[in-house]
Amino acid sequence: MEKKQELYSGKAKSVFATDNDDFVVLSFRDDTSAFDGEKVEQLSRKGEINNKFNAFIMQYLADNGVPTHFESLINDTESVVKNMAMIPVECVVRNVATGSLVRRLGVEDGMELNPPVFEFFLKNDALHDPMVNEFHIETFGWAKAGDVSKMKDLTFKVNTLLKQLFADAGMVLVDYKLEFGLFNGEVYLGDEFSPDGCRLWDAQTRKKLDKDRFRQGLGGVIEAYEEVARRIGVPL
Ligand code: TYD
Repeated sequence: MEKKQELYSGKAKSVFATDNDDFVVLSFRDDTSAFDGEKVEQLSRKGEINNKFNAFIMQYLADNGVPTHFESLINDTESVVKNMAMIPVECVVRNVATGSLVRRLGVEDGMELNPPVFEFFLKNDALHDPMVNEFHIETFGWAKAGDVSKMKDLTFKVNTLLKQLFADAGMVLVDYKLEFGLFNGEVYLGDEFSPDGCRLWDAQTRKKLDKDRFRQGLGGVIEAYEEVARRIGVPL
């Protein structure tokens, strides 16, 4: 497959056309951003780690019945994925309270959430990704009711699978964000799953092993991503 012109460049990834309309190349850059793009830095090797991490997780999810856009790794920082129409809604599941949930509701940081909490956010940096519900999504036409329900079911299925995967490697999957898209009218998991879009804590020490290290200026960001990858067996 031949890589063609750039179609879109986001905060951490770029998308390129290919000679086949059904597929695009997802290119993972070293750019790391937080606070709706206000804090941006280059972290050497992040693109490569996230590309390989994402490939591993997407393959694991696909092997366990979750439809994903992932097709194949093509080099250290790039993968081929299905060319989907993305749904502009982020699906967040929280197993432990932290971050914006704590700021919003004043609940205790670190509290275990049983059952887990599910939230939708509109993907819109200018509006700071406001929280929305199923009515907003349907009324404003961001997704059809049936597809919203599929996104929710798949996000919980991912929770069951990944909570266990990370627990087996001595980590707590605190929370994460997923994005979905439509390909031939069907819902598939898209975007990426990497330590950029989830929170992972060491089960014993509670050490943060995710992008909170960058958000909070704790240092050792890439070392933490590499450790997570190593623990779950991602070939780097
Ligand atoms: P949340 O606690 O709402 O965000 P904040 O980073 O402001 O504290 O985030 C919950 C999880 O979802 C966390 O792992 C980060 C991820 N997430 C993103 O990666 N991007 C987003 O735009 C949002 C809303 C969440």
